[in-house]
Amino acid sequence: MSNFFNWWVIVITLVNIFACYWLIKWTMKKRPDEAESGAATGHTWDGLQELNNPLPRWWLWLFYITIIFGLAYLVIFPGLGNFQGMSKWSSHGQYDKEVAAADQKYQPIFAAFAATSIPDLSKDAEALKAGERLYSNYCSQCHGSDARGARGFPNLTDNDWIWGGEPEQIKNTIVNGRGGLMTPWGPILGEQGVEDTANYVQTLSGREVDAASAEAGKAHFNMYCAACHGADGTGNQMLGAPNLTDNIWLHGSSAGAIKKIINEGKNGAMPALGEFLGDDKSHLLAAYVYSLSN
Ligand code: HEC
Ligand code: HEC
Repeated sequence: MSNFFNWWVIVITLVNIFACYWLIKWTMKKRPDEAESGAATGHTWDGLQELNNPLPRWWLWLFYITIIFGLAYLVIFPGLGNFQGMSKWSSHGQYDKEVAAADQKYQPIFAAFAATSIPDLSKDAEALKAGERLYSNYCSQCHGSDARGARGFPNLTDNDWIWGGEPEQIKNTIVNGRGGLMTPWGPILGEQGVEDTANYVQTLSGREVDAASAEAGKAHFNMYCAACHGADGTGNQMLGAPNLTDNIWLHGSSAGAIKKIINEGKNGAMPALGEFLGDDKSHLLAAYVYSLSN
């Protein structure tokens, strides 16, 4: 917080607290024209009389206690501008402490699985239970709670792999992340070219389309697309170029969706989680993902 706002917060907070105190004192002062304590003030409503009774003591004390509590809180905890409070408490500090405590408690559990190979772990019920919990925490928001993915987020249960389904490849995906770059082809192919190429792509998975258009698209495909997707369209796991022959689509299966991605390209990214998760958890997660389709 800048110096100005530091003092801004301190002054406003303290002035408010002392204003409360002053208000209590001020309202308790006896006025010159005031009725005796307990006597009628002269105000009546529908025959009800108002008496001049002071606020009950216990109520008054509640106000004082609130003020004392507020001041004590501001001495102990952060609240007055940049002043950290005597306890030096912070939400970051508390989070770090809890993470450290959890790591200390759970690290041995994950470490126990680290020496077992991924295929063996993928048959170990206890390891899979732990892996499933990790999956729910760290992966389900993108890949879905059932790991079946969604548009742009691959299905992890179908044994169809963009980046490879060998145990080490899966672990590598989790630890180092993946970035698939499909460049936009609209500017190069033009509208008709995109249409033709999309038609050809659809023939690769056995769809019925306009044969002449697909034939024209085949020439484009061989020239521009085969380098990444392979001459036969079965893809390339080194580049993350999906197999276009299996009728499994990452970015939508409709003719329109296929045209769109050819036209505009796409840059799908799986975040690198190795540093955040550590090796033991990544290992266990790889085993869990491996188990989903093996
Ligand atoms: C530089 C390599 C590269 C080239 C060249 C390339 N692609 Fe791609 N393509 C990719 C990658 C990588 C993806 C996956 C993008 C992602 O991960 O989000 C992809 C995705 C696709 C998809 C979506 C697949 C799905 O499952 O939804 C289609 C369709 C496609 N490409 C068709 C083509 C066509 C047609 C051409 C030629 C005009 C072409 N690609 C050229 C790399 C390439
Ligand atoms: C922020 C979203 C996000 C999170 C979180 C995420 N992923 Fe991914 N993941 C993706 C995307 C997007 C891709 C596809 C990348 C591409 O387009 O090539 C992917 C790809 C993958 C692949 C490769 C699939 C294949 O067919 O080769 C695996 C395996 C994977 N993720 C596992 C995980 C696991 C395990 C976790 C949790 C530790 C996780 N992901 C968390 C977005 C995410």
